[in-house]
Amino acid sequence: MSNPPAKMWSGRFREPLDRTFEQWQRSFPFDWRLLPQEIAASSAHARMIAAAGILTTPELEIMLRGLSAVGAQAEAWSHRISVSSPEPEYSVSTQQIGAALVASAPQAEDIHHFVELQLTQQIGPLALKLHTGRSRNEQIATDMRLFVRQSIDSTVRGLDQWIAALLSLAESVGTAVMPSYTHLQRAEPVLVAHWLLAYVSMVERDRSRLLDARRRMNLCPLGSGAVAGATLALDRAIAAAELGFDAPTTNSMDATSDRDFAIEFTHCLSTLGLHISRFAEELILYSTTEFGFLDLPERFSTGSSAMPQKKNPDLTELIRGKCARLSGAAATLTTLVKGLPLAYNKDLQEGQEPVFDAADTISGILSVLPSFTSALRLRLEKMNLAAQSGYLNAMAAATYLTHKGIPFRKAHEIIGNAVRFALELGVELNALSLPDLQQFSPQFDEDFFPAISLQAAVDCHDVLGGTATHRVQQALSAARERAAIRARAPHTPSAETAHG
Ligand code: ARG
Repeated sequence: MSNPPAKMWSGRFREPLDRTFEQWQRSFPFDWRLLPQEIAASSAHARMIAAAGILTTPELEIMLRGLSAVGAQAEAWSHRISVSSPEPEYSVSTQQIGAALVASAPQAEDIHHFVELQLTQQIGPLALKLHTGRSRNEQIATDMRLFVRQSIDSTVRGLDQWIAALLSLAESVGTAVMPSYTHLQRAEPVLVAHWLLAYVSMVERDRSRLLDARRRMNLCPLGSGAVAGATLALDRAIAAAELGFDAPTTNSMDATSDRDFAIEFTHCLSTLGLHISRFAEELILYSTTEFGFLDLPERFSTGSSAMPQKKNPDLTELIRGKCARLSGAAATLTTLVKGLPLAYNKDLQEGQEPVFDAADTISGILSVLPSFTSALRLRLEKMNLAAQSGYLNAMAAATYLTHKGIPFRKAHEIIGNAVRFALELGVELNALSLPDLQQFSPQFDEDFFPAISLQAAVDCHDVLGGTATHRVQQALSAARERAAIRARAPHTPSAETAHG
């Protein structure tokens, strides 16, 4: 027999599949993109069965060459499309490549079937030995782990670029000051760099979460068989090492039906998406005429087809919108696995697309976010002005009184009364005269005015993690140092420590 049967499992069947059902249940239309992973995993499996005596050394060589020829076909497809495209990097839609591949093999049920069919064309009946001692259940579990691992690595690289952009921006604004908000009401003045470093802290946590998940998922399911383990005494360490996994998984039932790695991955991305979306939302808000804190970079904004004056924050809006897909993927994965009996169930096939979508979504976002961040032009004067009205120095004023020995609760009340008085006059606290102030407390003195200056209202937050100028400078160089350490060893989860 030189051709594989039309199906990988047709022996016990006498009736052909319903045509519509057959098309509907195929996963090749989307799992074609696991081709590189499937080739790598199949090559690793070939080495394992050769070591177990199923393939001779020359047969193994033929098999490995055949597999890489099948992999090279996909490259050819992508090349064929990218040469006709003006900008290969992002505009070569992976969907286009997939559509071409899928159209080329309408009979392939899934990526595993596709490779078997193609391999048979390349090397003949020897190809049919490849499936000895393995199951698609362990294959898909392996391919997906490899895919997720790769996506984590590229996400981490993208995050490092975004962190670098945030740090440069934070450096470039020096000691500029802006209002901070709670309840979206003006709260206290902070350094602009302090605000930007808040996002660096979030992203560092996201990064370390992703790498933590990576470490946990980096085990190789190959050799787990369909459910109970391979029916050959395979040396599973061979495949694990070949694919860069730390070790083989330890339980075949778990390994073939576990999708924790996909759940963790999408949840990490979902949390990352929350942070990115909050950043996007703040920039949208700050770019409004009402705030006026920044000029949207023209090359990342769009106009309105109707209103000639408009410059719209489409990039940040789209980012905010796309982050919803990340949370959606996490929710789909969780719901999918909940209630599945052990071990493999076909439901698990539905877990692929949300993972692909989440990986594509984050890669798209991170392809624009760092350069957009670098292009941001903050209106520092406008921010500074905003930080000087709305009584953002009231906390500093109350603190002044506590230094005079007044209990804070009392000081709060006194400053509250002073604020009310100033509100009625329509002025800020520093415009009140000393006699005005002294009607609320005899403790007010000339040294009150320097104590509530913008600078003082920033610098009185002289604690670790606070916005005092020298604290922020320290935080910025500590963040720079952490980034440098990560650049030297990209897989260090290195996040901030309590010592900044
Ligand atoms: N396409 C399948 C999936 O994604 C591969 C595993 C099929 N296994 C099976 N027993 N039908 O889950």
